[in-house]
Amino acid sequence: MKEIIKVSCGQFFPKFGDTAGNLEQVYRMSEEAQSDLIVFPELASSGYDFHDHEEAQSLALDLVDGPEVYKLAEAAKNTGTHIVLGLPERSLDKVYNSTVLIEPGGQVTIYRKLHLFDKEKDIFDPGNAQLSVVETEIGRIGLMLCFDWIFPEVTRMLALLGAQIICHPANLVLDYCQRAMFARAVENGVFILTCNRIGAEARTGRELSFTGCSQILSNRGGLLAKADSDSEENISAEITPVAADDKMITETNHLINDRRTEFYGGLVK
Ligand code: ACM
Repeated sequence: MKEIIKVSCGQFFPKFGDTAGNLEQVYRMSEEAQSDLIVFPELASSGYDFHDHEEAQSLALDLVDGPEVYKLAEAAKNTGTHIVLGLPERSLDKVYNSTVLIEPGGQVTIYRKLHLFDKEKDIFDPGNAQLSVVETEIGRIGLMLCFDWIFPEVTRMLALLGAQIICHPANLVLDYCQRAMFARAVENGVFILTCNRIGAEARTGRELSFTGCSQILSNRGGLLAKADSDSEENISAEITPVAADDKMITETNHLINDRRTEFYGGLVK
């Protein structure tokens, strides 16, 4: 296992409805980055502003044996990159706002967004599986999606499950998530890659402007790389995932073991 790895965010403007073109962009940016891990935005294959559930279903991908997954697995293998991207996922009559991790060895892990944002509640089915962390050859990776950020329980759960790197594909319209993620990195001692999209969509009677500014944070909240608000670009950093196993923030304070859980019971009521 490599001690130091290169990680990237591929910030771009997914064009609504152009699955093939958007995935081409994913392959191209993965090749350009030459990274061990690259994260792309939420709903990167489809765009964001669906009219309804049926429209989302028509652009949703089958992650069990759809052709796109095989192509993504090929791209991960050819580039030696762990690829994470958001997409609408079809499963029987359900459509989830999902993110998928595809490893160079072909393993596929799916996370279905637990906390749907605003009108997403009319479009998608809510995630129905436990949060999980994947043991990969570059470290332990946790998956979350966009608005999950406002629930600190999500990053905390991923940290408790052992995540060293949290991948956070996003389609952010509020401009304060990026700042809040510093706290998520510091309070959990984990690396966080927030990959946001850029551009705007106005398909359903309102304009949504996405805020870009993708960022890579260290396990102590350091800003390792940052994109601007409207460029298509890869940003990259070198990180040491195992550093996230050190939860001591002073000689006597441990981020996890010092919790006084007997006083937090109300949190899960
Ligand atoms: C969001 O969850 N797309 C803000």
